[in-house]
Amino acid sequence: MTPHLSLEYRSALADAVGDEHGLNPADLDLIAPRVAEIVAQIERERAAGKRRYRDLPFDEAMLRDVVAAVTRRRGGCANLVVLGIGGSALGNIALQTALNPATYNLLPADRRGGPRLFVMDNVDPVQFAAALDFIEPELDRTCFNVISKSGETAETAAQFLIARDLLQHRLGRDRAREAILVTTDPKSGTMREIVNAEGYESLPVPDGVGGRFSVLSAVGLFSAGMCGIDLAAVLGGARAMSESIARPALRDNPAALIAAIHYMFYQRGKRLHVMMPYAAALKDLADWYRQLWAESLGKRRGLDGREVFVGPTPIKALGATDQHSQVQLYREGPNDKVFTFLVVDRFERDVLIPPAAAADVPEVMRYLCGASLGRLLNAEQAATEYALTASQRPCLSIRFEAVTPEAVGAFFLLYEAATSIAGLLFGINAYDQPAVQAGKDGTFALMGRTGYEGLAAQIHAKKVPT
Ligand code: PA5
Repeated sequence: MTPHLSLEYRSALADAVGDEHGLNPADLDLIAPRVAEIVAQIERERAAGKRRYRDLPFDEAMLRDVVAAVTRRRGGCANLVVLGIGGSALGNIALQTALNPATYNLLPADRRGGPRLFVMDNVDPVQFAAALDFIEPELDRTCFNVISKSGETAETAAQFLIARDLLQHRLGRDRAREAILVTTDPKSGTMREIVNAEGYESLPVPDGVGGRFSVLSAVGLFSAGMCGIDLAAVLGGARAMSESIARPALRDNPAALIAAIHYMFYQRGKRLHVMMPYAAALKDLADWYRQLWAESLGKRRGLDGREVFVGPTPIKALGATDQHSQVQLYREGPNDKVFTFLVVDRFERDVLIPPAAAADVPEVMRYLCGASLGRLLNAEQAATEYALTASQRPCLSIRFEAVTPEAVGAFFLLYEAATSIAGLLFGINAYDQPAVQAGKDGTFALMGRTGYEGLAAQIHAKKVPT
């Protein structure tokens, strides 16, 4: 589909898993015209200025602004703390895990090439206090990127207030101002008002781009750029994907295939969608996907307003680790899942298992000698796919030629587009999250926000422990 990524779905077909649990070419032929119409509709919406996430890879002005902000801040910053949650954090985490070493924060400054990164996407007091303990000795060399599109989210607001108070008390108002960069709605919202009042530097969450579709904007790119990730390459990879996800022919459009295959399996009772990367670097892409798929597709009402209660349940697993945790269930439990492996063809580094010269290698271990860990990991993936298909469990694979910024950028756009297409197949609005708002409102009420007294009374009447 691009030089960086490819999609395989042979193991989802009846030839691999049998007629009862696999798709036939005729199934794809049957749904292809509807998918072509949906892809055309999305392209029309895009031309009309909607689906702005599709245009982010081409937004040179946005990239220039992010790079300029990175250039201004990178030199004096030893720690970067991202305060955000959901779509305002998961992309940052996924980019960092994919494209910097797992030991990044432990490396000495000259080998990191950027600040340590802490993405605080929770309000767990023990965790937050521990992070503050760690950064406090270097507070004067710590930057805070507060990310909130709405500017209202309680978790991010609380973290912001704590960080600002700490900065102001320790460094004074001016230095506190310099330490904070806010990524928020360019025009409205509470954070925007605070930015205007306090004079904080800010970057926009582009208009019309929801949190979970925002990783390729300043939301995801600022922290990535600060940590030395090649932003132009990430966007370049997404651009390389852009043409193929606009193709009308189902078999030529990888996003359409992902959406249609999962939709058809959903209709056949396979409503659990497992994403299983076979690379530690890709594990948080599966977390990012989980939010995208769940929050976009899990809806009570269809586009016509009727109750539909649809939505697949995305599940994250990690190969080979979860072979020893989940695969028993996946093979022998209910046949209600579709598996997507993320596979890496060429690992950035590999580790050789010593050759069998030593006489102290027992015969039963010698098969490993001289092989590499990368080969072992990929053999485990192939073996798991074989085992699952032998048990009539349909599987897809996304193959990464290597874990590069280009491939990761392409992956983000591919799954965002697949989500848009799946949304229309399910007949729902993939871009709102009314149920999340209900939880946010409930939190406001229980924390005593003015205007939410009625809701607080309702919650207490239900005797919800607080
Ligand atoms: O995808 C979404 O829209 C949500 O996950 C939001 O990103 C999340 O709720 C945080 O919202 P905000 O960025 O407004 O603080």
